[in-house]
Amino acid sequence: MHLKKILGIESSCDDSSVAIVNSSYKVESLFSTNQIKEHQVFKGVVPEIASRTHTKDLLSLVELCFKETNYSFADIDAIAVTSKPGLVGSLMVGTTTAKTLALAQNIPFLGVNHLEGHMVAPFLQDTSTPAHNKLTFPFLALIVSGGHTHIYSVKSLSDYCLIGKTLDDAAGEALDKFAQLLGLTFPGGAELDKLATHADSSYFNFPRPLSKEKNANLSFSGLKAAGSRLVSGLSKKDLLKNKAHLAASYQRAVVDTLIKKLQQAQEETQLTHIVVSGGVSANSLLRQEIKQWCKNKNLHLSIPSLKYCTDNAAMIAFAGYLHMKEGLFSNQYLSPTST
Ligand code: KG4
Ligand code: ZN
Repeated sequence: MHLKKILGIESSCDDSSVAIVNSSYKVESLFSTNQIKEHQVFKGVVPEIASRTHTKDLLSLVELCFKETNYSFADIDAIAVTSKPGLVGSLMVGTTTAKTLALAQNIPFLGVNHLEGHMVAPFLQDTSTPAHNKLTFPFLALIVSGGHTHIYSVKSLSDYCLIGKTLDDAAGEALDKFAQLLGLTFPGGAELDKLATHADSSYFNFPRPLSKEKNANLSFSGLKAAGSRLVSGLSKKDLLKNKAHLAASYQRAVVDTLIKKLQQAQEETQLTHIVVSGGVSANSLLRQEIKQWCKNKNLHLSIPSLKYCTDNAAMIAFAGYLHMKEGLFSNQYLSPTST
């Protein structure tokens, strides 16, 4: 079956997103709504609110993609949707939407692993990436977000293995919680990054968890506790005075930990193509340090442009396309067009 245009749907957490990606990996349209305002007051994502907001937003995002491209369902060959991992209610809204549209339009659909979307996000093409980065396997992937901190050795999207992962919290979670202690608004990672820009990252001393262990597993709960202890021991005045140094020092500890473990995984696997993706890959210090390490070691680095770091449907359409072009569909039994 010849697939030219894939509609992607992402709703695994608090971003509703729809995209159209073509067989040249080009993003023809991408519209997303994030729910930060709805969840901010609770200082975290509330699953029920997330599901309800996806229900409200997804179909209008599909319409926006069609309006921008002048396409209709007649131009769409298949639908890819995030089916795991994520909040169960949110996933159900996305998968039910995708299944219903696919069935109504008599086109195939595929449930896609969200983490596989992040793995291929650096290779998405659009008009702002003329010098595009070609998708080549194998690679070593650090997927680092609010919910995940995983390192994979990836031979293909159907053949990859876990080299290391966080034993407790994700790096994004550790950054967001510390940002909250500093009074920044949820989710906080990006604001912490900004606040840290001109501050002294060696001003406070935070632990680098598991750095002496000879494996690629990570841990952030101890660092989170150390951050909380330090902040609660400061007077209001000292906290205000040192806010930027706190942000810079804590961010440095997170970034050092991520890089150390990625380096260990690289030594273990000897892979020379490095992928760093997920929301935290938008972090300016992480990007700068990883670029420098790859340059020094002569490693090829693929990292998404900022708009594809955080959750988006273009990466899901892309990962879905890569599977579907190998003949993998979720509804073979439903759609005669998929055989
Ligand atoms: O991939 P993503 O959109 O959602 C999950 O799958 O979790 O990642 C969201 C995470 C949040 O923790 C957010 O604070 C973090 O990515 N993030 C950042 C930056 N931009 C987003 N963390 C550090 N620096 C940034 N610039
Ligand atoms: Zn994600």
